[in-house]
Amino acid sequence: MRVLGIESSCDDTAAAVVEDGPRIVSNVIHAQHDNHAPFGGVVPEIASREHINRIIDIVGRAVGEAGGLKTLDGIAVTRGPGLIGSLLVGMQFAKGLALATGLPWVGINHLEGHLCAALLAEEPVKYPHVALVVSGGHSHLYLVRGFGDYQVLGGTRDDAAGEAFDKVSKLIGLGYPGGQRIDEAAKGGDGNAVKLPRGMPSTKNFDFSFSGLKTAASQYVKSRGGNLPVDERADFCASLQEAIADILTKKAVAAARKYDAAGVVLAGGVAANSRLRELLAERCGRARLWSLIPPRELCTDNGAMIAAAGWMRLGAGERTAWRTSAVSRWRLGDQSAIGVRVKPWRQP
Ligand code: KG4
Ligand code: ZN
Repeated sequence: MRVLGIESSCDDTAAAVVEDGPRIVSNVIHAQHDNHAPFGGVVPEIASREHINRIIDIVGRAVGEAGGLKTLDGIAVTRGPGLIGSLLVGMQFAKGLALATGLPWVGINHLEGHLCAALLAEEPVKYPHVALVVSGGHSHLYLVRGFGDYQVLGGTRDDAAGEAFDKVSKLIGLGYPGGQRIDEAAKGGDGNAVKLPRGMPSTKNFDFSFSGLKTAASQYVKSRGGNLPVDERADFCASLQEAIADILTKKAVAAARKYDAAGVVLAGGVAANSRLRELLAERCGRARLWSLIPPRELCTDNGAMIAAAGWMRLGAGERTAWRTSAVSRWRLGDQSAIGVRVKPWRQP
């Protein structure tokens, strides 16, 4: 079975085709960095317009590289959560394509999509596992008992981890996209040089808080006269990364132990962070847990992860009703938000 995946929930216009495995056949992405960089962050109106300008080309390339529309068996598209104007572009495009081709289609939860990047690994993912999903809008720990069977163990009480990266990047003049720029600026820096707080440090609960870290970072920058010289910047960025990676990995490992999960899947845009990847692998290894850390290009938004989720859902017989619209908010695990109800099911 071959599935086309379309993703347009934020600032990336992306499309991919996956086939049985699921394995990637084609994967095309247009990141809108240049459009938003002058404003220091994503401008929703510009994002929607850019999706409209690009979507035919991006989907056309993904389908073309895979051998054409006739080779497809279904279409998956991100339905939410995300920027509503951006989501609507992908949803309407997918519905139009489904109508024209007669192919079945399914609306996918973006967070489930991030988790499905793990399905594209060579080794089949094992259940139950703990998933750490960290992106620009979400920082959550889930217990994943099987595909579609998610229990929220904890989440951020304020900012998402990606938001903390983005806001501090703006503060120190590194701009947008923040996480990536801080990651680069941290190279060669000492992660213990600047003492930064860990919010909600107890591993007895699995919630996070990053607003205190943001305030402490801003106070530190002010105390240095509002501007960090380049040599101090590497230490500061490395310390920020360390603070975020430390608390995320500590709680992920504690959650896996508490819930008897044998491993941890890392997902979401922040999963592209060098220090987070390194520390999770190290701490899981020490705790005798496996860790599944997808390649960077499958951590940030992409069409392949949506196609992988669609491959599972379409394969299970799920279809989304035509009247179903995009949703800006959609908790992972809330099946009632799907047009057709399917029972959670386990991979054979
Ligand atoms: O999943 P994603 O591409 O879009 C959302 O669904 O939000 O995540 C974007 C977030 C942004 O906050 C971005 O700064 C962060 O992921 N990010 C990173 C890195 N690359 C992207 N954060 C830290 N280090 C990175 N290398
Ligand atoms: Zn995302």
